[in-house]
Order: sequence, then C-alpha cells, then structure tokens
Amino acid sequence: MRRAALLFLVILPATAPAAMLPGDAGRGQVLHDRQCTACHDSRVYTRPNRTVKTVEGLIGRVKLCNQQLGTKLQRDQLNDLVKYLDEAFYKFP
Ligand code: HEC
Repeated sequence: MRRAALLFLVILPATAPAAMLPGDAGRGQVLHDRQCTACHDSRVYTRPNRTVKTVEGLIGRVKLCNQQLGTKLQRDQLNDLVKYLDEAFYKFP
C-alpha cells in the first residue's frame, strides 16, 4: 500500500508538464492561423518524421519560428501557441 503511494508520487511529475502548460489554446489557434502558416501548414506537426518529440522541443521550435516572423510575438502569445499545438497535434503526455 505504502509502496503504491510512493510510486504514484514518483510518476506524477513526469506526466504533469504538458497538462500544466500555461496559455490558452483557443487564442493560440487564432494566432497560429494568422501568423504561422506562411512557411508551412499544420501538416508539419503530424507528419510521420516530425522533429518535435518533447514539450521542451516544442517550446524551442516555436521560439525559433517566432524569430523568423517580422512582428515577433510576446511570451504569453508563445504560451498560447504551444498550448494549442500540444492540445491539437502533439498531445504530449
Ligand atoms: C519563416 C518561415 C516560418 C514561419 C513564419 C514559421 N515557421 Fe515553423 N517551421 C519553419 C521551418 C523551416 C520548419 C522546419 C520544417 C522541417 O523540418 O521540414 C518549421 C517547423 C515547425 C515546427 C516543428 C514541426 C515538427 O517537425 O514537429 C513547429 C512546431 C513550428 N514550425 C511552429 C511554428 C509556429 C507556431 C509558427 C508561428 C509563430 C511558425 N512555425 C512559423 C519555418 C517557419
């Protein structure tokens, strides 16, 4: 019994980050469709050989792509985008 409780505590942090991402997926989607489809559409997020494998990777990639934009987005807008991309496509645990 005690061991089971401990195991739960150990597993929890590994699954928490994606679910606890800050940001608003609805706002992220609007932003995405307005700002992020000049170079690629959403098929890059679901292609079999997609490059993003982790939440950290997703955050890094969104930052990188943001640097390509003329009008750079604010940090809370990036949070919205990451939240949207995770919920709609990547679905990281
Ligand atoms: C100036 C062009 C450009 C713009 C604008 C752009 N991207 Fe990208 N994006 C790229 C390129 C190039 C890749 C890499 C494609 C590849 O590996 O074939 C990429 C890949 C990605 C990936 C990784 C896909 C994978 O393989 O899993 C994500 C996520 C992404 N972009 C998000 C965004 C978001 C969010 C925005 C809007 C803020 C955005 N991109 C705007 C050029 C752009």
